Amino acid sequence: MEKNNIEKEINFFNGKTNLQEDNKIILVTGGAGFIGSNFIRHLINKYPNFKVINFDKLTYSGNLNNLTTLEDNNNYVFVKGNVSDPKDVKTTFEQFNPDFVVHFAAESHVDKSIINPNIFLETNVLGTQIMLNYSREYKVQKFVQISTDEVYGSIQENCNVGEEGSLAPNNPYAASKASADLLLRVAYQTYGQRVNIVRACNNFGPYQFPEKFIPIIITNALQNKEIPVYGNGINVREWIHVEDHCRAIDTIMQDGKSGEIYNVGTGNKWRNIDLVEHILQKLDLKNDLISYVLDRQGHDIRYSVDSSKIRKQLNWEPQIDFETGLEQVISWYKNHLDWIEEINSGEYAAYFKEIYKPRMMDTD
Ligand code: NAD
Ligand code: DAU
Repeated sequence: MEKNNIEKEINFFNGKTNLQEDNKIILVTGGAGFIGSNFIRHLINKYPNFKVINFDKLTYSGNLNNLTTLEDNNNYVFVKGNVSDPKDVKTTFEQFNPDFVVHFAAESHVDKSIINPNIFLETNVLGTQIMLNYSREYKVQKFVQISTDEVYGSIQENCNVGEEGSLAPNNPYAASKASADLLLRVAYQTYGQRVNIVRACNNFGPYQFPEKFIPIIITNALQNKEIPVYGNGINVREWIHVEDHCRAIDTIMQDGKSGEIYNVGTGNKWRNIDLVEHILQKLDLKNDLISYVLDRQGHDIRYSVDSSKIRKQLNWEPQIDFETGLEQVISWYKNHLDWIEEINSGEYAAYFKEIYKPRMMDTD
């Protein structure tokens, strides 16, 4: 997989990002997680000549079972490593000399960040800086940062936030992601690195860790367990199928203008309580599984992005209609009860108790 550094240097200074060329090496961090694993499958299926390196620490949400179909694929390599450890990152750059970096690795759950913010800063901020440092040293052609619409904070009713919206994070996770975005800006402005930032709305799809809302609804409903709804359930989220997000990231990696931020959204917005009732109806279950619990601290009321820039400039639009996506995901979880079982048998069960027990309204 060694590549000629001189050739890379020429490509770098020409600003060339023609991914149809053979033998591109893509370093994906956090590829054992939900979106990262879907993105790796997308790359391997679409580009038979790419080599994909999955660099992941395998935290509680990283799961190599998400990628078993690729275990014997010669174009896929897994490296266990920590983005916040310069030694791990340097060794990987030395060994693989990647052309592109797509940086998903992160602590990703808001509730966890409220309990323990430190690891969010270590992974999401310091880890991003370390990845940027080595990307610069090894003349990576483009660094794609997987950010989030949460960096904009809560968005008023009837408004959509565009890429120029101000950063107004309201929880430690969102603040760590906003900080990382600022480091991307610095990489571009100060060092002339070629970068893009992708800010998507809430993803759902196969392989999503059950700490997140849609998998909690489906997996708890399938097990006849209570479904916790925070506060009064009127908070609004915008939902995108993970494969549509992956297509957007691929488009941005190839065609995004360096230094630009792209929002990725669908306009498909739901109040949490309406979404739970909708999914329960699809499962032929009654609403009595719903359990209102104490609200999340600093809970953002509403997310809503203006995604017209990627649609107009890069010709991307979502392809999976919400109902079809939801039915696919419900079937996926129904057919992967062993996947859920394995997660439930590990530290997740203890986490679930730790986070939800004190929230139950009727708990003393
Ligand atoms: P996830 O928690 O499922 O996956 C995160 C992955 O990162 C895991 O495989 C984990 O092992 C790995 N990781 C964590 N710390 C690491 C470290 N120090 N070094 C190397 N690997 C490490 O998260 P996800 O939902 O797939 O989110 C992926 C990215 O997308 C995150 O950056 C998140 O902020 C962003 N994002 C998520 C959503 C969403 O709705 N899930 C929406 C927009 C943006
Ligand atoms: O908007 C993008 C973000 O979406 C990503 O950057 C984050 O990584 C991802 O976790 C997600 O953040 P949210 O906080 O919006 O997602 P979560 O699934 O945790 O919650 C969605 C909504 O559902 C939110 O309003 C809180 C509510 N909720 C969540 C859980 C886990 C409940 O009512 N009950 C629950 O048990």
